[in-house]
Amino acid sequence: MKIEEIVTATPALPVIVINRLEQAVPLARALLAGGIGVLEITLRTPVALDAVNAISEGVPEVIVGVGTLTRPEQFALAARAGAKFTTSPGLTRVLLNASEQSELPFLPGVCTPSEVMAARDVGFHCLKLFPAQQTGGIGMLKAIASPFADLKFCAAGGIGPENFRDFLALPNVTCVAGTWIAPAALIDAGNWDAITALARSAASYAG
Ligand code: 3PG
Repeated sequence: MKIEEIVTATPALPVIVINRLEQAVPLARALLAGGIGVLEITLRTPVALDAVNAISEGVPEVIVGVGTLTRPEQFALAARAGAKFTTSPGLTRVLLNASEQSELPFLPGVCTPSEVMAARDVGFHCLKLFPAQQTGGIGMLKAIASPFADLKFCAAGGIGPENFRDFLALPNVTCVAGTWIAPAALIDAGNWDAITALARSAASYAG
């Protein structure tokens, strides 16, 4: 799958910080029950890669990606864990070189016009604007729509139930990403029904 196909397969991409491995499969099932079939496990906890592996094997209908990828060796670790895509908060030369060796689709993060141009120069046409709200939000995305008419964005950072629809209404936004769909407190409480409800609300965006 190309990264464009992955980010258009869901209007909202849950950004997940997982603390306990046994949470992985029920969490993925809860999101799927709410209509979200793409998710990102962030490399922010020691169990993250094992969680990716557990979801990839236990809930194969879910497209699981690895996020917060900031070091070159993490591309291979993500692939080995069974990830279907990778995403980073930014793009460095070192990360770019490593991404070119990886077969996984990659969604690099950008947050300025120069970063957008640098990423486009090396062939990326689908980018993550991060942190979207803090870097200018809706106004920023509208402003870059015309100079970068050939690019699509996944907006991440500072997005929640109150504003995700406004982002998705922008023609250059293909999906939004954020922690609000699977908040750490609900994961830790094992409140899968509440997560399914949040997923359902996010997935119900009709455009
Ligand atoms: C992240 O990487 O932390 C997310 O993309 C944004 O997180 P937030 O939804 O909590 O702002």
